[in-house]
Formats: sequence, structure tokens, C-alpha cells
Amino acid sequence: MNDIDIGKYFKPNLSEARKRKGEIEHLSFKLPKDLVNLGIEKKYIIQTYGCQANEADSEIIAGILEKMGHEKAETVEDSDLIILNTCAIREKAENRIWGELGRLSKYKKTNPNLLLIVAGCMPQQPIVVEKLLKTYPYVDIVMGTHNLYKLPDYLRQAYYNKERVIEVYSKEGEIIEHLPQVRNHQFKAWVNIMYGCDEFCTYCIVPYTRGKERSRLPEDIIQEVKELVSKGYQEVTLLGQNVNAYGKDLKIDYGLGELLYDLDKTGIPRIRYTTSHPKDLDLTTIKAMGTLKSVMSHLHLPVQSGSNKVLKKMNRHYTKEVYIEKIKLLKEHVPGISITTDIIVGFPFEDESDFEMTLDLVEKVGFEGGFTFIFSPRTGTPAFSFEDSTSQEEKKRRLLALNELINKGFKTGNLRFLNQEVEVLVDGPSKGNPDVLSGY
Ligand code: 5AD
Ligand code: SF4
Repeated sequence: MNDIDIGKYFKPNLSEARKRKGEIEHLSFKLPKDLVNLGIEKKYIIQTYGCQANEADSEIIAGILEKMGHEKAETVEDSDLIILNTCAIREKAENRIWGELGRLSKYKKTNPNLLLIVAGCMPQQPIVVEKLLKTYPYVDIVMGTHNLYKLPDYLRQAYYNKERVIEVYSKEGEIIEHLPQVRNHQFKAWVNIMYGCDEFCTYCIVPYTRGKERSRLPEDIIQEVKELVSKGYQEVTLLGQNVNAYGKDLKIDYGLGELLYDLDKTGIPRIRYTTSHPKDLDLTTIKAMGTLKSVMSHLHLPVQSGSNKVLKKMNRHYTKEVYIEKIKLLKEHVPGISITTDIIVGFPFEDESDFEMTLDLVEKVGFEGGFTFIFSPRTGTPAFSFEDSTSQEEKKRRLLALNELINKGFKTGNLRFLNQEVEVLVDGPSKGNPDVLSGY
């Protein structure tokens, strides 16, 4: 199987896809009438890996499946359809999924009618499709992040023709409105405001797996939030890979700041947004955060590194000084704001003094939490081939030192609220003690 033409599974072929110049189409989802009952008496289960974008996509996959008559299963054993909605951000995430795919093979043996579907970010990479073809022949449907709306067609082919379906859309993506959705929560909701990313940070696979940056129209987002309000939702989290770039592609002089003002008018009690890029965080958005009671005073603002040399190699388009300046503005305009971040350690070129600069920045900003990672080289990204002379042991040491500092900040952040009465959104019974309610 060495001469498989992987390109034929990608629509368009990969050499075309890399041109990335197509116009973005806004389309509306419609389920063909003849597929409405295709899922009756079949049960599905979705395993979601990775970020909130995947969680939101899984709600759409569930929505499509239920619209076709499928029912949610409680366990894998009880399922006729298993969907892995995959993550490609780091090697560790991928390895977990490869392991799970191996484990699931036994269910194919006990239930010959079981369909196994691999969706999400992993199949957007040719190298993954190749491995799926060679090593996991029992996977029935392979699709990516741009073609969720085609799932009914793929199921038709798999159910009726008993065909293996492999189709990954490699064009930069469209906007599909009116997709059905089964929300996982009754009072807080994800709301996609944009898809894709045009930043191309040198370590990151996302611009390749999620396509070109493209914004939903403000009126479609506002309408969705109005509907959520009418159903009693208390909180929305606006989603995008770089929400601060919202609207740029629409060319209507309307950005995230303006959207926040308009969404506040819907009456939704709480608004959050993630993820932000420091370079695009503007004063209108910062002022909206400070002015609108509905916009929560928390911001996740990934800094990645405190060294200008490393930031440049990462293609982040800001310096440590610019980042600190934005933090100053945020603290000025948004009283009591809590700031969290993402940091990568062990990036190629990061030496001890660069790492010290990161620690210094963490102290200066006073982050109240953060996600920290050891750099994971991703095939196809520029940083994959950067020379890297730091040992894994040293990287682990840096990660531990950084985590210690981040945890200290987390504790300080929590202590700010000790003995204070504040309004919280109740999540439900506490995991540790069901007699107590937990909220945030
Ligand atoms: N290696 C390690 N961490 C990464 N991230 C993204 N790509 C990589 C990679 N190749 C981290 C960044 C980003 C977060 C979602 O994941 O910190 O902000
Ligand atoms: Fe990846 Fe950078 Fe885009 Fe974030 S902004 S998704 S880190 S390329």
C-alpha cells in the first residue's frame, strides 16, 4: 500500500488547496428528505478531544445525527455509531486517539454493523489519512472539520452501499448556517463567531486543519444569542481561534468590540470570548469589557513566551513590551480583571535566559491561571524543521518551574475572593461533595 494517492481524498487536491485564495461562501444546511429517518433505531456516541471548537462541532454532529433519527447511547457497547472528534494540536493528543482507535477495534468484531467515524482536526492532515488507510482499515468514515454538513451523505453511502467513505475538504472552508445542534448544557452555550485562523504561528497546526479565517455575519450571531436568551440561557462563550480578528474578512468596519455591544442588548446575562490574540486585541473591545456588565471580567490572552527573540521565531507579531502595554490597558479599563494565558516552553531557540524572561513576564502580569505546554513539533509547520538542541529533560524542568509560578498565581487569584460575596453561575452539585453546589 505504499503508492496510495492520498491527494484524491482531499477536495480539492492538496496542491490546489494550499493556494488559499477562494471566496468564502455563506450557505444554509438542509437535510435531504430521504435521509430524515435513516438513523431510526440506531444509537450514537461521540468522543470529543481538544478545544472548545471541537466541543461546539460535536454539538453540531449530535444535532445532525438526531435530526436523522439517531438516539444518543449511554455507552460504547450500546452504540451503532462511534464518532471520534479528534484533536491535532500536540503529538500527545494524537497518540491518545490512535490508542483509542486500537481499543475500539474489538467492538467492530462483536458488532459487525457498528460504524466507526474519525472526524475533526487529525484527518485534515494527509499523513493521518495515510496512516488510517494503512493501519486502521476498520474505520468506516473519515472526514475533517469543514464538511460536517456532509455527514448525512456519508452515512447514506456507509449504510446503503456498505462503502468506506474518506473525504476531507481541504479548501479553506465555508460558513454553513442553520446547522442543527444538541447543546450539552442547559444554561451556558458555545457560540461560534468565526472559523479558521490566518496567523500561521510557526508551531501551530490549526491554520492547516481549520482553514482560512472567516466570520459569521453579525445578524446571524445576534439571532442565535436572542434564541438562547429566549430559552433561558445565562451565559454564552463566543468562539474562534482568534476572536479579536472577528469581522476583518467581512470588510464592514465591525469587529469584536461592536459585536459585544450588540450582544449585550440581547439581554444575555453573561458573555465570554475565547481565544484572543494579543496583537489584535483593540481598545474598543477592552472598553466594551469595562463598560458592559454582561461581559465577564476574565480574559484568556495567550502570550506563549516572554522572550522577544522566541516570539519572533514563533511569528507572533508582538513583543513582550506590547503585551505588557495591553495588560496595563486591560487593568485600567476593566477593574478586577483576571487574566489567564497559554505558554509554550522548550520552543527551538529558547535558551535559559529566554526562559527566565518568560518567568519574569508571568510575575509581572500576575496571571491567575494558564495552560502550559512543552513544544510539540507538528509535521507540516515551519517549526517542525527548526533546529532544537534542548534536551527533553531540560524542557520538563522548565515546565515544572513555570507551573509552580502559574499555580501560585492561580491561588492568589482565588484568594482575592476569600470572604467575599459575589454572584456566581451555579454549575451544579460539586464533584467533591454533592451536598454543596459549585459555581463560578
Ligand atoms: N506545541 C505545543 N503547544 C502548542 N500549542 C499550539 N501548538 C502547539 C505545539 N505545536 C499551544 C499554544 C496554544 C494552545 C491552544 O496550544 O499555547 O495557545
Ligand atoms: Fe494557532 Fe497562532 Fe492561530 Fe492560535 S493564533 S490558532 S496559536 S496559528
